[in-house]
Amino acid sequence: LSTEKAILPASLDDSVFMRACRREVVPYTPIWLMRQAGRYMKEYREVRARMSFLELCKTPSLAAEVTVTAAERLNVDAAIIFADILLIIEPMGLQLEFSKGEGPVIHNPVRSGADVDRLLEVEDVSALSFVFEAIRETRNALRPNLPLIGFAGAPFTLASYIVEGGASKNYVQTKSLMYNDSGAWHAMMSLIARGLVKYLNAQVDAGAQAVQLFDSWVGALSPDDYRAYVLPYTRMVIGGIRSGIPVIHFGTGTAALLELMREAGGDIIGLDWRVRLDEGWERIGRDVGVMGNLDPVALFANQDHLRAQAKLILDQAGGRPGHIFNLGHGILPETPVENVIKLVEMVHELSQTS
Ligand code: CP3
Repeated sequence: LSTEKAILPASLDDSVFMRACRREVVPYTPIWLMRQAGRYMKEYREVRARMSFLELCKTPSLAAEVTVTAAERLNVDAAIIFADILLIIEPMGLQLEFSKGEGPVIHNPVRSGADVDRLLEVEDVSALSFVFEAIRETRNALRPNLPLIGFAGAPFTLASYIVEGGASKNYVQTKSLMYNDSGAWHAMMSLIARGLVKYLNAQVDAGAQAVQLFDSWVGALSPDDYRAYVLPYTRMVIGGIRSGIPVIHFGTGTAALLELMREAGGDIIGLDWRVRLDEGWERIGRDVGVMGNLDPVALFANQDHLRAQAKLILDQAGGRPGHIFNLGHGILPETPVENVIKLVEMVHELSQTS
């Protein structure tokens, strides 16, 4: 399947975002923002007031509406489908809930080899058809030259929720399984990776032009553990995605892991703000692109500071092809929306070359 090359309409293929993914010269630096559709935006809160977060994810017309509204309001260069990295764990047999204030909760977490044996293989992805329908509806509603990004959680970050049962600080349960029953760990990671390949390719088939893998919590690992317990599975996922579809490989707290993440794969590596963009790019190599890496908290500063910070990042990118501007992590719920709109304007203006 993955040898089938996706064919895009020229308007999308020539967009600034897609050109930057291929490290081609662009007239200005493309920008989009992780969590660009979210609680900081009034339009999102209004839709969200009518239903739970999971219901919103499972209502394609409304998921499409919040995706398109955010992309248009911000004038960003790509949209990202409204969904969540945890949706795929339901068809694996896990009971997911988003509880108020606590974030995600998994009621039957995996703690042992016997629990791993009970996980369900995601044989076909039809249980997630609401995501593909949301992608189709979003693609139809978006400007024809605005790319749509599909996404999934990377194997480690998904495993951390599956094992911990929610957010974690030290990943004690996750690492205990990894160290004490490495056979079960490898079996679980392999099952997750197989599911992710099917899920991401189905997102591409439904109309996503690029995909992002979120390994948000991978920075909790030592480089040696990353290599032994995680890298093969992330590589398997990225290697399984249809050729010609750009892959963004993102993580946070990854200053000690950048070379290894690059080895795992991706056309674009996402950097957080704890590394300088120029140093990070030098380390991963100029033959891949970079995404990032403004501190999301810079959006709370006055606009002079914000502009100076954006300029610093653009100067570090130095106009080299293959930079996609983004935050180093998602927009925070209390962020002033006018600063987000302003940032997009600033990046476009400061990076304009013609
Ligand atoms: O970027 C986008 O605009 C697309 C939508 C998107 C969401 N989640 C919507 C969401 C994306 C790309 C994600 C990915 C995601 N989900 C990640 C990786 C990105 C990251 O931030 O590291 C993770 C770790 C999750 C798991 C998750 N989902 C958590 C921890 C939470 C709770 C966060 C909180 O602050 O309450 C969610 C819920 C969630 N996902 C919200 C949104 C808009 C808030 C839900 C609400 O409306 O109450």
